[in-house]
Amino acid sequence: MEAPLFTVVVPATTANLGPGYDSVGMALSLYMTVEVKEALKWNVHYEGEEYAGLATDDTNLIVRTIQDVAGRHGKEVRPHTLRVISDIPLGKGLGSSATAIAAGIEIANELLDLSLSPKEKVAIGSEIEGHSDNVAAALLGGVTVAYFIENELEVVQLPQPIIGVIILVPPNALKTSESRGFLPQELPHSVASAGNAASNVMLTAMALGDWELAGKMMEKDIFHEQYRKPLLQDFDQIRDFCHGLGAYGTTISGAGPSLFVAVKEGKQEEIAKQLEKEFPYYRAIAITPSPIGSTIQKDA
Ligand code: HSE
Repeated sequence: MEAPLFTVVVPATTANLGPGYDSVGMALSLYMTVEVKEALKWNVHYEGEEYAGLATDDTNLIVRTIQDVAGRHGKEVRPHTLRVISDIPLGKGLGSSATAIAAGIEIANELLDLSLSPKEKVAIGSEIEGHSDNVAAALLGGVTVAYFIENELEVVQLPQPIIGVIILVPPNALKTSESRGFLPQELPHSVASAGNAASNVMLTAMALGDWELAGKMMEKDIFHEQYRKPLLQDFDQIRDFCHGLGAYGTTISGAGPSLFVAVKEGKQEEIAKQLEKEFPYYRAIAITPSPIGSTIQKDA
């Protein structure tokens, strides 16, 4: 069988981490792999059932992103076959669309030899996605903090977090657009100030490696948690249970409906088992933050 031209690997991501709404992202050790081969027409082949309902032609998000990036450079990419193998749950708050967008940007960059800088990639991804948090972490890896307002982008990376992570994945999916529809249009100044303070302390604590404090602040979000948590079964009970197990903090993963739990490094497997036993509605995935973002791999 003909070998792929190259393979792109992109991590899953969790966004917000509580009060870092639309700004903070973390890459996770779940990955999407896309093998790229030349072909006569666009064909996206997803391995496994999770992604079975997605478009497989040139309306697919990865392909649309490839052509979007090409179009920005006055070019078009000839058809290719993309074989996608992914262990990222779809539509569950783990940045699956940002992962696809990051893959598309990397493929266009490689096929057209565009030499895009990391910041240029994040800027394009943010424009396509509408916010930066997932796509910055998917492209750069680790924990990213982005300012993306009216197409002005600044993005920085925090030191690699030394923690374990549990993602609680419910059976139902939730569209980000639907979840965003539950949020208020405006917040009083004093409320926004409280959210800003929680986010500032959380990020400084993360930078200092103080995850006890980061986890505490992660739970003080006022921007979205209270509006979205009615959509998440047993949210408060899970948070209380995690406190009892010594977790650093629990929050909604991105727009939901999964939950993100930060725990001491090495404790994730054991705590995941206890969570799954207590809350069998959810599948508990024990993982770690991913230090690497999207990468291109070629056979030597
Ligand atoms: N910041 C986004 C949200 C993440 O919370 O809606 C989901 O894409």
